[in-house]
Amino acid sequence: MPRKKISLIGGGQIGGVLTQLIAKRQLGDVVLFDIVEDMPQGKALDIAEASRVDGFDVKVTGTNSYEDTKDSDIVIITAGLPRKPGMSRDDLLTTNAEIMKVVAENVKRTSPNAIVIIVSNPLDAMVTLFKEISGFEPNRVMGQSGVLDSSRFATFIAWELGVSVKDINALVLGGHGDTMVPLKRYANVNGIPVMELLEKKYGSKEKADEVMNAIIERTKMAGGEVVKLLKTGSAFYSPASSTVAMVEAIIYDEKRVLPVCAFLQGEYGVNGYYVGVPVILGEKGVEKVIEIDLNEEEKALFENSVNAVKNLVADMKRLGY
Ligand code: APR
Repeated sequence: MPRKKISLIGGGQIGGVLTQLIAKRQLGDVVLFDIVEDMPQGKALDIAEASRVDGFDVKVTGTNSYEDTKDSDIVIITAGLPRKPGMSRDDLLTTNAEIMKVVAENVKRTSPNAIVIIVSNPLDAMVTLFKEISGFEPNRVMGQSGVLDSSRFATFIAWELGVSVKDINALVLGGHGDTMVPLKRYANVNGIPVMELLEKKYGSKEKADEVMNAIIERTKMAGGEVVKLLKTGSAFYSPASSTVAMVEAIIYDEKRVLPVCAFLQGEYGVNGYYVGVPVILGEKGVEKVIEIDLNEEEKALFENSVNAVKNLVADMKRLGY
């Protein structure tokens, strides 16, 4: 099997960690692109110089030219600016949409057959814009959000129950914002419902609900919790790891069932929007959207989240994108 070519557009915090993770796992040759002169070359060199100790043979290069990303199999986009003090949501949307426009035009030109994973925020809007500008088929344009949100949900559940996080299955649906929907009914520990274990632990359904609701709130605000502690930026280790899980599923054609920001065409009663839902992820990208049954309460929360995505996309259109 020829080695894959994976290009990372944006060589900031997430781009740097992604480069190292991809190299260490030998998932493919990595090209790290950024508009900042010399910086991606410096990061790539630094990471490549660990190849002996880390034991990888894949090539790691940094560049300021899209030509070097030509014919990539996978493109991961983390380009964008974080929100700065005094910046409104519209300001951020305009700034990052302007960046995404340039990125999408260049990726379309240089890697017309790539599978594209977008990480830049505001995620649901950025994925939509990329798809519209590139015209790529929806199965190969997706966003990373649910893998991370679900990992955060699972981590908090594991801490609460005092069990291995490896045995936790937890799913978060919806947009990548405050309206996301962590599904308590589907959360389980190797098949045992988490709610059942919480009820046993606390002796009442009310207390179990209270504990679970606190976990859900923490999950929804988890990105902000990290921002508040870091002070200089947003989470980057966990977003990079989550993106690598998606890359692995694609490269090894794993058919993993992962929550992905995917283009809905009638599924869940939504048409023409990107929303976080479970999908089968394989060599063709999003191979199938999996529709799970939602009860009335879950449906209402999901619809609320879909409306938030619709408003975000409407805002972006109002700003001229
Ligand atoms: N083309 C390519 N790269 C760009 C462009 C552009 N037009 N404009 C900015 N960049 C680069 C910056 O130079 C910077 O190196 O994007 C990089 C972003 O890196 P960071 O600011 O370190 O942000 P990071 O923590 O990596 O997060 C990236 O992912 O999770 C989201 O909210 C987060 O939108 C942010 C993105």
